Order: sequence, then structure tokens, then C-alpha cells
Amino acid sequence: MATRVAAAAGLAVITSYLIAARLRKNSKAVKLTTAFQGKIRLPTSVTPSRYDLELTPKLDICKFDGKMTVSLRIVEDTKYIVLNAADLTITDKSVWLRSNTSRQMFWPKSVELHPEDEILVLAFEENLSLGEAVLSMEFQGTLNDQMRGFYRSSYKINGETRNMAVTQFEPADARRCFPCWDEPSFKATFKMTLHVPVDRVALSNMPIAEETRSSPKMKTIKFEESPRMSTYLVAIVVGELEYIEGHTPDGRSVRVYTEVGKTHQGKFALDVALRTLPFYAKYFGTEYPLPKLDMVAIPDFAAGAMENYGLVTYREAALLFDEKVSAAANKQRVAVVVAHELAHQWFGNLVTMEWWTHLWLNEGFATWVSYLAIDHLFPEWQIWTQFVEQTVDAFRLDGLVESHPIEVEVGHVREIDEIFDAISYKKGAAIIRMLQTYLGADTFQRGLVSYIKRYEYKNARTEDLWSVLSEESGAPVKELMDSWTKQQGYPVVSVQLKSEALVIEQSQYLFSGHGGDGEWVVPVTYCVGAYKNKMSELVRLKTSVLSTHKLIHDKQANSDSDMTSQDSSPDLSKDWIKLNVGQTGFYRVKYDDELALRLRSAISAGSLEATDRFGVLDDTYALCIARKQPLSVLLSLMEVYRSETDYTVLMCMTNVSYRILKVVGDAIPSAAKDLKHFVSNLLLPSAERLGWEARPDEGHLDSMLRGELLSALVFFGHEDTINEAKRRFEAFLKDRESPLLPADTRKVAYTAVMQSVKSSDKTGYESLLKIYRETDVSQERTRVLSTLGASCDPAIVSEALDFLLSPEVRNQDAIWVLAGISGEGRDAAWSWLKENWKTVWNRFGESVLITRFISSIVSLFSSDDKADEIKDFFNANSAPGIDRTVGQSIERVRITSEWVKYVQKEEGIVEKIKQLGG
Ligand code: BES
Ligand code: ZN
Repeated sequence: MATRVAAAAGLAVITSYLIAARLRKNSKAVKLTTAFQGKIRLPTSVTPSRYDLELTPKLDICKFDGKMTVSLRIVEDTKYIVLNAADLTITDKSVWLRSNTSRQMFWPKSVELHPEDEILVLAFEENLSLGEAVLSMEFQGTLNDQMRGFYRSSYKINGETRNMAVTQFEPADARRCFPCWDEPSFKATFKMTLHVPVDRVALSNMPIAEETRSSPKMKTIKFEESPRMSTYLVAIVVGELEYIEGHTPDGRSVRVYTEVGKTHQGKFALDVALRTLPFYAKYFGTEYPLPKLDMVAIPDFAAGAMENYGLVTYREAALLFDEKVSAAANKQRVAVVVAHELAHQWFGNLVTMEWWTHLWLNEGFATWVSYLAIDHLFPEWQIWTQFVEQTVDAFRLDGLVESHPIEVEVGHVREIDEIFDAISYKKGAAIIRMLQTYLGADTFQRGLVSYIKRYEYKNARTEDLWSVLSEESGAPVKELMDSWTKQQGYPVVSVQLKSEALVIEQSQYLFSGHGGDGEWVVPVTYCVGAYKNKMSELVRLKTSVLSTHKLIHDKQANSDSDMTSQDSSPDLSKDWIKLNVGQTGFYRVKYDDELALRLRSAISAGSLEATDRFGVLDDTYALCIARKQPLSVLLSLMEVYRSETDYTVLMCMTNVSYRILKVVGDAIPSAAKDLKHFVSNLLLPSAERLGWEARPDEGHLDSMLRGELLSALVFFGHEDTINEAKRRFEAFLKDRESPLLPADTRKVAYTAVMQSVKSSDKTGYESLLKIYRETDVSQERTRVLSTLGASCDPAIVSEALDFLLSPEVRNQDAIWVLAGISGEGRDAAWSWLKENWKTVWNRFGESVLITRFISSIVSLFSSDDKADEIKDFFNANSAPGIDRTVGQSIERVRITSEWVKYVQKEEGIVEKIKQLGG
């Protein structure tokens, strides 16, 4: 009899599982094996060392057959072998174990699957012989449509829809493809064999060792054996694909695989990969560990990309770039994603986290290191300035009570998905940047080189990295970093000038404005009057006085010998003082009134660098939300950014403007128009400088900025820009090659058109759908989708949301429509979500995408009543894997609600906005 594992959602399957469980209750084996249920980690009495896998995907009927023979070490006396399996059917009779030491054969007396725990328990009559053994079994599974495990993705060829078979195993879905010890610390080697139709390309982690024709229609492909690696990095792709290829300086093959006819879109990514691999090999002091690297664009893909060892998979929009259709922002995205996934080939794949608690070691590091690579490849992108956006995204999540520490306990496997968030990625990357700044770039790099050498082909925990870095630097790395990885949140450092001394005080920053008693070891940096007058100091206490005398003394000593710098001696009584220089620290700063005033003048005078201009603005904004400062202070500050030209700082301006507008729109609707006027005027000079069309020699940042500024102007109702956008859209409709609407400005035009679509005239909406339907470039499709929700008419918003569920939109792309919903559309969107919750849950509940439905829509609200209503709804419709997101989204609603009330009470704010907007 074959044992079935239930798919969590299928009612019929669940019932049959219950019946099976009831039957099992009568058998003796059950009582013993329950000891393994409800456990988070597998027992370590038996560990795998080498998997021999044979898989036969049946693309037409979406099933697969498999056979596995795995070499084991039995290290403790036991009658049981416990490993992971889910959604698989095991052929009980096929299971056997042979001891290498005793040569004895063992057949299990029971083969039990426990769907709840996703484990397979093999129970034997007697204790297994200690030492090496071989376990073998056959199994069947389904190529599912959930974008995880072993799944199907569809593509069209000559008008006919076909399936490809793809894997996505991180964090814990290898068990849906073959039974295995599916935890990152059970590293083993893998030898893969695939049986596929002769006309298909079959790829896996390693190069092909041997290819034979097994029948007129089928071939057998054997791949070379991999190095020791974790199960979540095993990968397979079978489909009709074409590739372009290049070679690294040391002769390794790098290929980009795409659907038939799209290889030209892979050139940019190939080039980035070819230049990134040697960069990392040098930086990490270790060669790329595998003989080849393939990168594949998959038409249906839940995440952005996945770093499978030697076979990196991507959604199309994260890998493919079309010179004509893609925008500068798309180009940067491709480069960043490629650099991120390749960083994992060392950080993650070669050295792997011991358990998911240390996920941030993978993701935080890959994120941080990708910036290093991009800066090397494209210095003109000023990517380290752009890095502050990562920090701010992390601040946005980590300023919530509902945040979590970087190192987090993981219970059920479903909880792992939810920690692939801004904390692991962005806070992780930000605190690494902070540590690197503190230790110095060279020391830090030497530490990484030792770390990789020491742990290659093995696993590591957070503290392992700290001890290597301490050895290298002699600094108290663990003490410093524990305060950032083991507790959630971050501090705001308040600084006051008190009789010629800088007194600082740290307290936890929370958007909600109160509570939180965290304390951190803060590597404070500051400049006085000039960037060369820079100091740093570890601050451990709640309150302390910065040792500014050192700076002044050193300076005086220097100026004695060097007459030229005499005039720039730092002077606390009048110089500007900027803390968190370059925004490399993960903390916010609150200045006293005098220091804030000096900073404003310094910004006006052009004395501050872009990152610091960004920091002053964003920190002030954050203090406003937390109701530590009135809105008028922020608005006055924004005025000094009138001649701002930096991309990242202007992005901060537009983001802050969007958020203020939302709050003022709810708090004092009558002031919204003046506020829009004010912010439009601030952005207009830069927008006019850039115009609508690219200059022949313009830089990457200007190309990206153009679209963002024009979009903001459209959003803030700037009539001339809106009309111009519509005019250019008409030209584009007549001619897709029209120079009037290049890729970088297309989204602006789509938004302008969509904003004014009403039920009474849907021409604009239909034109956009036409563009959507005719393109074969994924970035163009997502561009259209991300504007469809922008209408102010509730009926149109619902229609756009219905479209997202139609067969015309791949599940992977549905989230784009959500991202485009504006404040005006929020009620329609929320009603839609409630009505369609069952459908949405059934379609997206198994993947990480479900959380977007909640966060994108819920976070648009700003009242306590709404927060209560939303809470009730999700209490009644609670489900695994969404609790964290629901909690965070509701907290955001309450925060905005508090801010709205605060702004309503702010004295003189209406007049202030009127004066600014007039
Ligand atoms: N390891 C992740 C992919 C992943 C994400 C697997 C979530 C399982 C769950 C990959 O390295 C990654 O981080 N991809 C990012 C892109 C990156 C540039 C931030 C993504 O998918 O968005
Ligand atoms: Zn990653």
C-alpha cells in the first residue's frame, strides 16, 4: 500500500489522512513514532552523506517519478530513520537499507508519513548496525502550480502552451521533490540523473557528465556529483530553452538561459555575472567553487531570484533586460539581483547558516556585498549613496512593536517564510555596513576571507562570524553586535549642546512614540564643521558626553605644524555638527534646536554630502511620525532642499511627500491642495532640468530620476505634467517606437492616464490592457500592472483587481496591481479583498505572495476604527504564515491614525501649509 501525504488545503486529502491516522492508531508502531512528531529539528542519529537521485518529470500530466539511493552514517543506536517528505507518495515495498559494515539488509516494518510535521518515519524491527549504510526508495509526486518544491511553469511556443519543470526549494521544500534531511546543516553531495524528452534542455547544479538516449523519445542525463551542500540549494530545470554563453578569466562557463527567442535580453545579466565572479573570488579570497554557472529566466517564479548552487533561477524581470523596452531602474534591478545571487555562491552556498535563525547571515550579507560588487562594476551609479534606502526600509519595519530580532527562533516551517523580510535583508545589511565602518574595510575583508576558509563546505552561526572578526581586529565584536542582532529595534540618539559639550542620550525609537526599553552599543560617529574633523566613539550608556576635546586638541596640534588648516579648526560654539556621518550607523539622530538650525544652514550652503542630507531629512520625518516634532518643522526643513539634485535625496523628498500628503489628506483635507502645490514646486526645478527625453550622454541616475520626479508631479496633480504625459501617451499608442515616450518615462504616462479613468470612459484602461497583451517583455507587463490600480473610481479599482485574478495575469505578477492602489482606491480594494479572500487564499496562500495582499491594502488606512475592523476580519480568517504581517500592518494603521490626530491638533499648521503652497 502506498502512503499519501496530504496537501494542506485539499479537503478530500485531509479526510483520507484522518482516516489513515485513525487506522494507524490501532497499530503498535504509531506509539513509538509519535516521539518524532511536533519536533522542530530532525534527530541526528542518522545523517546523509551522498544522495543519488533519479527523477522523471512527466511534463504533460504534471507528475514525476523518483528513485533515491542515499549513503548514510548511523551514529547512534536506533530502530528509526526520520527524514523529511511532503506531498509525496512513497512506494513502501521499494524501501530497503543495507549496512556497509555488517552487510546486513534491513526492510522497514512500517513506512509512515506525518503530513503535519512533513516527516517520513521508517521503523525497523531491530537496531540498525552502526556505521555506513545505504538507504533506497522509490516515490511519486506532482509538479504543482504553487511555485515551490518541484513545480510547473508554463510558456508558449508557436502559440501552444507547454510546461516546464522547475524547482524552488528554499527554505524547506526539497522534501516535496524527494525524501531528504531538509535542514541546512545536513550537508551532503548530490548526484542527479534526469529522464526527459529528447527535445528538452535539462539543467541541474553541476555540468552534464553523460547523456544517453534511452528510447526514441527519451534521453537520460547524468550530472557530475556536487560538492557538499545543503538540500535547499539543489535545483533542476527542464524545458525548451536557449542560451548565450561567456567564460570567466579562469575558463568557467557562464550561461544565461531564456525562453526561445529571448536570449538577446540576457546579454546585460551575462556581462554582469562575468565581471562579478572574478570580483568576488578576489574579495572572498576563494575561487568560485563550481565548474559552471547557469542563470535561468523562469516564467513563473515566486521570489525575485534563487541562488541554487551553480543554477541560479530568476523571474524574468530580474534577469532580462531589453535595450528598447526596459528602463534604467530595470537595469539596476537586474545588476543588483545578479550580484546578490552570485554573492550567495560563497556566502550561503559554500558557507551556510547552521539553522534559519541565522538566515540573516545569508541574506544580510548577500545584500551588503552586492553593493560592493555594483560599486565596483558601475561606480557612476553611486550605489553606496543609494544604500541608505535599504537602511530606511529596515527602519520602517524595525520601528514597529511587531518587528522581531535579526536572530529569531523559528518554530513551524511555515514561520521561516515570514522572516525573509526587511529585518533579515536590510537591517542585516545595514548593521554589517556599520560594523565594516567601525572595523575598517581592510580588517573586515581579511576577517571574511578567514571566515570563508574556516567554514567552507560547512555551516556557521552568527557568533562564529563574530569570533573570526574579533580575532582579526582585536575589537569587541560580539558585545557590539549582540546588541543589534539579539534584540529588535534601534535607538534614536538625542544630541544637545550643553556648555561646550555634546551630551547624548539613547532611547528606543518606535513609530508609536512610546514604550521600548532597548539599549545598544552604538558606534557613534560625528563631524564638526567639516568632513575632515571626524570622530568616532562606542557609546554604551543611556547618557554620555562625547569626547570632543580630543578632536579639538588633535586639531590644534595639527594646525600648529600646518598653517594652512588653521582657519578650519572645529568650533563647537558655531560649527554644524552631524552625527552618524554618511548614515553608516543603524540609528536615528535627534538634534536640539540650535544644532538643527546649523544643519539647515549647512545644507543650504552645500556643505553636507548626499547621504547626510538624506539622513537629516529622513530622521526629521521619522521624529514627526513618532510625534516628537511638529509637522511644520519638517515642512520648513523641506524648503532647504529646493535646489537638491541628488537622486537618492530627491527620492527621499518624494517618499516623504507621499506620506505627508496621505496624512494631511486624512487630517485636514482642505489643506491637501496647498500641500500638493508646495511639494510640486519643490520638485519642479529638477524635473525641468531633466525634461521628458534623455540627453544623449546623460548618466544612469538622471535616467532613473526623471521617471520618479515626473511620477511624483503627476501624483501631486501638477496639471502641465499630467497633460504632457497624456499627449505623449497618445503618440506612443500610435507608434510603439515613438521617441516621445522612452522606457524611463512610460510609467509616468501610464499613471497619468490611469488616474483619470472612470467607469464612464474606460478608453485609457483598455489602451493599457492592449499594451499589456501585446508585449513579450516582463518589465513592460509589470509596468502596466503597477498602474492599473491608480484610478480614483472604486469600480475601476475593483475591475483592475478582478483582472489580477484572471488567467491573463500570472500569479507571480498579481502583486504589482496591489502596489499601484492609491489612497482613493483603498476602500474599494479592502472590500474586494474581503469578498475574494477565499479565492486569494487558495491561490496564493501557499506562497510568500499572500502577505503582499495584506500589507499593500491594509497599510493604506489611517483610522482606529479601520484597524479594529481589519483585526476582526483576520481573527475570523486567521491562517498560518500571515500572523506577523497582519500584526505589522494593523500597527501601521494605528500609527498613521495617531499621527493624523496629532496633525489635526497642531497649532497653525493650516496657515503654514497655506503659506507654503501659496
Ligand atoms: N534566497 C533568496 C530567495 C528566496 C526568498 C527564497 C524567499 C525563499 C524565500 C534570494 O537570494 C533573494 O534574496 N532574492 C531576492 C532578490 C535580492 C536582490 C534581494 C528576491 O527574491 O527578492
Ligand atoms: Zn538572497
